[in-house]
Amino acid sequence: MQALNPTQRVQIDLGDRSYTILIAPTLIGETSTFATLPAGNSALIVTNVTVGPLYAQRLQASLQTRYQVVHLLTLPDGESFKNWETLNLIFDALLKHGCDRKTVLFALGGGVVGDMTGYAAASYMRGVPFVQVPTTLLAQVDSSVGGKTGINHPLGKNMVGAFYQPLRVVCDLGTLKTLPARELSAGLAEVIKYGPIADLVFWDWIELNLDRLLARDAEALAYAVRRSCEIKAWVVGQDEREAGLRAILNFGHTFGHAIEAGMGYGKWLHGEAVGCGMVMAAELSRELGLVDAVFVQRLRKLVQRAGLPVIGPRLCAVDNASRYLELMRVDKKSEGGEIRFVVIDGPSHATLRSAPDALVRQVVDACCA
Ligand code: NAD
Ligand code: GLY
Repeated sequence: MQALNPTQRVQIDLGDRSYTILIAPTLIGETSTFATLPAGNSALIVTNVTVGPLYAQRLQASLQTRYQVVHLLTLPDGESFKNWETLNLIFDALLKHGCDRKTVLFALGGGVVGDMTGYAAASYMRGVPFVQVPTTLLAQVDSSVGGKTGINHPLGKNMVGAFYQPLRVVCDLGTLKTLPARELSAGLAEVIKYGPIADLVFWDWIELNLDRLLARDAEALAYAVRRSCEIKAWVVGQDEREAGLRAILNFGHTFGHAIEAGMGYGKWLHGEAVGCGMVMAAELSRELGLVDAVFVQRLRKLVQRAGLPVIGPRLCAVDNASRYLELMRVDKKSEGGEIRFVVIDGPSHATLRSAPDALVRQVVDACCA
């Protein structure tokens, strides 16, 4: 592992939409973090009622050296607010403050704030610049990177949105100190994901260093964030709009999204649903003859050690498997009503596959309470 560097940089190469991810113990309060962003008259920080009181003032002070006016919008907190109504509050604020096409939006918070602010930026006046300032582990290793933005629909997770890249991603590792333990575990699900889909050496490293990550060891967190961002940059750089390869980043998400929608948004955290979903997707990979039971057990053990659930919830008292199937058909990867799952088909290799309903039922029945 590299020695902890004050500011580490990971580049997302997307031609004229390229940008840098900055990773360091303190970034929000440093004016230099934002110095090379386009100057403008105004900026709008979008945050929520939990993160705002912790970090908004510091960010606002840094941005005031670059923008004449820095507005602040504080949204309600939670996955259940990732919807049209809350999104509209961002448009209300932009219009109320007379924000123009050069106004820069700053998403200060976890994936919920990041996804909604990004979508608002993609849509307001047909597109204004925005910067991701992720404050959860999940957002630093995944959601702030790669330009997927959007909101949930009652019938399906992240069903309305746009690909829209930020100008920069600012991962201030110091913010992870105030993250609740349950949220840290949720973020670890997306860190673990990168092992089986892309990097066995990283998987080994996570297994060895999981206790350090859970104890918020600064050096371990810095490495996990950087390596995760490097892998995501590698994937997104090849397939920005998910024509193929990028789908591997959805390992565990097909089952996971069904859990989130089926339970009601916010009951299970996104990372919890993904953690459990990865175990279910691994079981499906085994049923398809692509991996063995040792692989599934290895993943299950790591997910469990990270403090995440490995037994799926019942989404229907009568016919649980049918309910999972119904919800999973709404997944964005489905084609013509056929569900396509990310399965593991080799050492650190994943692919998209459909599976007979009977097999999926078997997996759901075996994996759920
Ligand atoms: P979140 O945004 O709800 O944040 C989790 C909780 O932690 C919230 O209560 C939040 O207020 C609080 N919080 C955030 N930072 C904090 C801090 N530093 N200290 C204390 N509390 C803090 O959830 P999340 O796990 O960050 O993100 C999940 C969302 O991300 C889901 O909606 C998911 O669909 C989305 N997502 C998007 C992508 C993408 O590519 N766009 C990828 C993965 C997940
Ligand atoms: N989190 C999945 C993706 O960015 O594609």
